[in-house]
Order: sequence, then structure tokens, then C-alpha cells
Amino acid sequence: MRVFLIVCTLVASVHLMLTPALAAVPLGPAEEPTVELSPAPAGPNLYERLGGESAIAAVVEDFVARAAADPAVNFTRKGTPREWQPTPDNLLRLKKRLVEMLAAAAGGPDPYAGRSMKEVHRGMGITGAEYDAIVVNFKRSLDELNIALSEQVELLALVGTLRSDIVES
Ligand code: HEM
Repeated sequence: MRVFLIVCTLVASVHLMLTPALAAVPLGPAEEPTVELSPAPAGPNLYERLGGESAIAAVVEDFVARAAADPAVNFTRKGTPREWQPTPDNLLRLKKRLVEMLAAAAGGPDPYAGRSMKEVHRGMGITGAEYDAIVVNFKRSLDELNIALSEQVELLALVGTLRSDIVES
């Protein structure tokens, strides 16, 4: 009996030591645990709560039109050395990349394969006021597409982290 108790104690201690490590290792079907080792996901991520790619694409469609029409943003960088032509091809590429970027940032299934925000906007001389104006446009698009306030807060926080990469002056 005493030997049995010692063995049980040892097995339990080793198990306790290994549990955190095991939680990070995918176990094969043969070792499928009967109890949950890692905590279950907290629920749908931001991408899912927004309604996936089609919902993000609808926001981007509205946002690009809004930002492009707002003189406070000067999206095309008119009057600067980095003037951008809003041709159909350029607009299409911009929207596609924006959707990819926002989807990836919100936890979507595909990684963002485009250039970094610093690289893309380098030399555009975007001011803090222009950035703030584009964020107002973004918020208006979220309202227009009936995105719930809690998801708006999360998305705006994500966009906020890009400020220092985009604003130059
Ligand atoms: C006043 C603020 C901003 C201005 C004036 C601006 C302007 C531009 C312009 C002109 C382009 C086209 C560049 C090119 O194709 O060569 C561009 C691309 C892009 N911008 Fe912005 N932008 C601003 C803020 C933002 C913000 C806040 C985001 C993110 C939410 C963003 C995300 C992107 C993306 C994803 C691209 C496409 C990148 C690529 O083609 O690889 N921009 N931006």
C-alpha cells in the first residue's frame, strides 16, 4: 500500500509539472486528452464578430469613397511629390490591400502580405490632422455599416496603433 501511495504521489507531481508544457503542444489523436488542457477560446474573434471579409469589404468600400472625397485628408496627396492617381486599377488594389490588412489585424484566417504601413506611406508627409480626419471618416463608415460600438472600439484601437507609422509631420 505504501509503495502504491508513493507511486501515485510521484505520478501526480510529474503530471503537475508537465501540464503547462503539454497545454502548448498539439497532441495526436492517440493521445487525445479526455480533459481540456488549454482554456477554451473566449468566443468569436473580432473578424468573426464583424461578419468576416464581406463585412470588412463593405466598410472599406464606404471608407475609401469618404476619405478620397474629404479635402481635410487629401488622400491623393495632391500638391505633394507623392501625388497618387485614383485610377480604377489603383483604387481596386488599395481596397483589396485595405481589406486584407484589416481582416488580418482583426484575426482573420489569412496573413497580410502587403507592404508595411511605414513603407507605404513614407514620404507622403501625412500630418496628424490629416490622420485624425481619416479616422473620423473611418468611424463614419463603421456607423454607416451598423458596426456595433464594442467592435468599433476594437477596430479603432487597431487603426490607432498605426498612427506613428503613418504620420510624418
Ligand atoms: C491621412 C491618412 C492617409 C493617407 C493620406 C493615406 C494615403 C494612401 C495612399 C495615397 C495610398 C496608395 C499608395 C500606393 O499605392 O502607392 C495608400 C495605401 C494604403 N494605405 Fe493609406 N493613407 C492614410 C491612412 C491610412 C490608414 C489609417 C490606413 C489603415 C487603416 C491605411 C492603409 C493603407 C493600405 C493598406 C494601403 C495599400 C498598401 C499597398 O498597396 O501595399 N492608410 N494610403
